[in-house]
Amino acid sequence: MKSRKTSARLAMLVSILNDGQYHDGTELGARLSMTRTAIWKAINKLRAYGVDIHSQKGKGHVLQGPLVLLAKEAIMQDARDKTIEVEVFESITSTNDYLRPFYGTTVPKICVAELQTKGKGRLQREWYSPFGKNIYLSCLFPVKKDVSELAGLSLLVGLAVVKACKPYTQGQGLKLKWPNDVMCGDKKLAGILIELQAEPYGQCCPIIGIGANVNMLQPEMEKHITQPTTSLREISGRYIDRNILCASLLRHLFSYLKQFKRQGLAPFVPQWHKLDYLMGRDATLQCADRNVRGEVQGICPQGHLLLKLKNGAVQSFAAGDASIVK
Ligand code: BTN
Repeated sequence: MKSRKTSARLAMLVSILNDGQYHDGTELGARLSMTRTAIWKAINKLRAYGVDIHSQKGKGHVLQGPLVLLAKEAIMQDARDKTIEVEVFESITSTNDYLRPFYGTTVPKICVAELQTKGKGRLQREWYSPFGKNIYLSCLFPVKKDVSELAGLSLLVGLAVVKACKPYTQGQGLKLKWPNDVMCGDKKLAGILIELQAEPYGQCCPIIGIGANVNMLQPEMEKHITQPTTSLREISGRYIDRNILCASLLRHLFSYLKQFKRQGLAPFVPQWHKLDYLMGRDATLQCADRNVRGEVQGICPQGHLLLKLKNGAVQSFAAGDASIVK
């Protein structure tokens, strides 16, 4: 697997270039104790990642838009929880895949990346994961529960994402579309992919993957993502420091996960119902073998979707892809 941790020098180079001024190779080399050739290579590497840098002879290099890279220390300091240890990658195939070999661990493991070359969404979809713009975060969270008790896990992860994103939404309400899309209006802001593997003796090691659109702008989203999508930058109208958001996300996630460990999903159901995007709507659920249509009645305490069918019966569904009938 190709994965590369963000080097301190690359992060420093970006932070120097982030002031909107030109900096030449000699100055950058002196400040970073690097040769001019090494600076040139680093600039080209950023360009290859898609970072827009303008270079002019005699003047140097300048970033064409704001960019703050993810930094382990900043995230961990702000997360204010000693059990939260984060690995930060410059590039990785998928943060979820990176954690898979750690199945069976007894302590949580977290990683984030600037770029995913094979970001995965639900139902074998691709998750568009450009460099330095969004949050791609995965957390391996061992719990002493049976796989059957974890159906609702993605729902409570959605609640944590909404809580962390709320300060950036200018009062525009975020909603949760069962099972795990975070929506702003009718556009998707974030998605969750949980991968499970049962361990013996009622142990479980879910890998919780969160992809949140943070600083992408509309033209880029329209070009690369087919479904209507938004980002926190589009909603708030400003560039967002992903380190602060990441730390807040981890704080809320861990607090919810700890409560889930003790009490399961039940205490979260009322909160979820308040944010339910599909509640009362006429929807079609695409299951493995069939499509079912009905009026959404919320979720049950296990986190299954409740659909009132044409014949008046209410049926629960553990999995599927829901869409609103227009
Ligand atoms: C979805 O809505 O389809 C789920 C998207 C999940 C994307 C995240 S990004 C971090 C983690 N790594 C992946 O490859 N996927 C998840």
